[in-house]
Amino acid sequence: EKGGWDSFMDKEIHEDPAAVQRTLLGRLNKAGDLNLDEVHIDEHDFKAVDKIIVIACGTASYAGMVAKYAIEHWVRIPVEVELAHEFRYRDPILTPRTLVVAISQSGETMDTLMALRHAREQGSKVLAICNTQGASIPRESDAVLYTHAGPEVAVASTKAFVAQITAAYLLGLYLAQVKGAMFRDEIHQVLDSLKHMPAKIQWVIDTQSSAIQAAAKRMVDAKSFLFLGRHVGYPVALEGALKLKEIAYTFTEGFAAGELKHGPIALVDEGEPVVFIVPPERGRNVLHAKVISGIEEVRARGAFVIAVAEEGDPDVERYADVVFWRPKCPTLMSPLVDVVPLQLFAMDMANLKGYDVDKPRNLAKSVTVE
Ligand code: M6R
Repeated sequence: EKGGWDSFMDKEIHEDPAAVQRTLLGRLNKAGDLNLDEVHIDEHDFKAVDKIIVIACGTASYAGMVAKYAIEHWVRIPVEVELAHEFRYRDPILTPRTLVVAISQSGETMDTLMALRHAREQGSKVLAICNTQGASIPRESDAVLYTHAGPEVAVASTKAFVAQITAAYLLGLYLAQVKGAMFRDEIHQVLDSLKHMPAKIQWVIDTQSSAIQAAAKRMVDAKSFLFLGRHVGYPVALEGALKLKEIAYTFTEGFAAGELKHGPIALVDEGEPVVFIVPPERGRNVLHAKVISGIEEVRARGAFVIAVAEEGDPDVERYADVVFWRPKCPTLMSPLVDVVPLQLFAMDMANLKGYDVDKPRNLAKSVTVE
């Protein structure tokens, strides 16, 4: 079943481009507009939505965090993202106009299932973004938008993450379309960028894999890693940190780069590896310069800087010790490519340490207990 791959994880990372592509497939009509009739929520209900709450766990929650930045920007309604197990027990404010979006690869995560039951009991509609046909979460939801990543076997979630972002983006753009929150041309432009992402992910796999492997060899003995990003790079940092701790058993911490000076910089010592997600659109995106100054700060304290950055970024060339390059793309699209080198890096590290990358210790593929 693994085909010629060393592991399911290896195979599944290589399916990242296809996962995005297949999730986009069949969701646009001939005129290039979005058609989500398949989810069976009528347009009237979608129009009334005035708030979104995403509930999910682990990787799926990071996909939700990425989507928050995009959907708030496009649709101008608040999007909260909450870990399902926290949401369930805090008496959340839910109304019939709140759309609860449950994101789950397996569709069987008990924490997420309990949270969605609670949301429905309180009178909110639940839409599931799920990768598994007919699983409990889609079965118990009011509507389903399937990700078409194909079965994911490795415990560490990879292709499902990029598919979840893609599906959540489609949902956001659809809401923008029915609510008239964006011009049709703008929506088409974003959809066009999305369509270009599979090729960009493929570029990363084809051109960056050997640099990633070399970096893993160089850092295999590191005791801990920090992962930093801002805006959509923040959840990507969290996801990179999760991948590495989950399968390579390395202590990692991911946080928002702006927090550095509020505490975490105290951890930075000579040789400490720090991974930065550097935003694209240098010169246009104000956060680019801020992340670069974060890099300068940790370097001044002797950190070993690994950056994920746009091809040819001169600031990064100047300051980073190791770089995994991304091809040019708009900021909101960057998580779809940026996570890929982090997935590969975690896998290479785990392989070098001789661990079973598909079945890390203490973990199950789906967590069916609360
Ligand atoms: O099947 P789900 O998407 O609901 O699973 C949620 C998390 O348990 C899952 O993403 C977990 O964090 C992964 N092992 C991360 O790689």
